[in-house]
Amino acid sequence: MMHRDCERILFSEEQLRARVAEVAREVDKLYVGKTPLCVGILKGSIIFYADFIRHLTSPVELDFMAVSSYGSGAVSSGKLKIKKDLDRNVKGRDVIIVEDIIDSGFTLANLKQLLLERGANSVLIVTLLNKKARRNYDISPDFNCFDIENEFVVGYGLDYNERYRSLPYIGILKLSVYEK
Ligand code: IMP
Ligand code: MG
Repeated sequence: MMHRDCERILFSEEQLRARVAEVAREVDKLYVGKTPLCVGILKGSIIFYADFIRHLTSPVELDFMAVSSYGSGAVSSGKLKIKKDLDRNVKGRDVIIVEDIIDSGFTLANLKQLLLERGANSVLIVTLLNKKARRNYDISPDFNCFDIENEFVVGYGLDYNERYRSLPYIGILKLSVYEK
């Protein structure tokens, strides 16, 4: 049953399961003989992250970051705020950033730059969703599960005001929910 605040289901549980597995197996091929550090961006990526890492066969290490951007409006402050930093040192590591959605690209452009400045050997970006039309920064994911239109989506980790993260599918939120 779909949540009543959703307009429609964009990607079902079955679609998500199949596509995430497909992408993860592609990524996995790049890390034979390596021990990548898989960095999940809290909190939106948690469900995607959990599903993604279970298809990796290399001895992956897990870490997380929480960031916030003040770049959601037309004017960005140009600064990424780190709310929770990594536990591990990234120097010399092959990092896989796992993110829920790339929108303006502000978060990932800044994060990739930061991890490279800290001495990461490589930084690969894996996203669940890509809102291409909204891109403002010169960055694109190395791997992406689904391209989407400029619609606000929730579920499978993604929220609106911290709600709907636990929905097992990706749904388009009804406009009336924002307008309230
Ligand atoms: P960016 O820095 O503009 O690329 O923003 C990416 C972040 O915006 C994501 O990590 C999400 O937290 C949030 N975001 C963008 N679009 C959506 C959406 O449709 N639903 C939920 N969160 C979104
Ligand atoms: Mg996020």
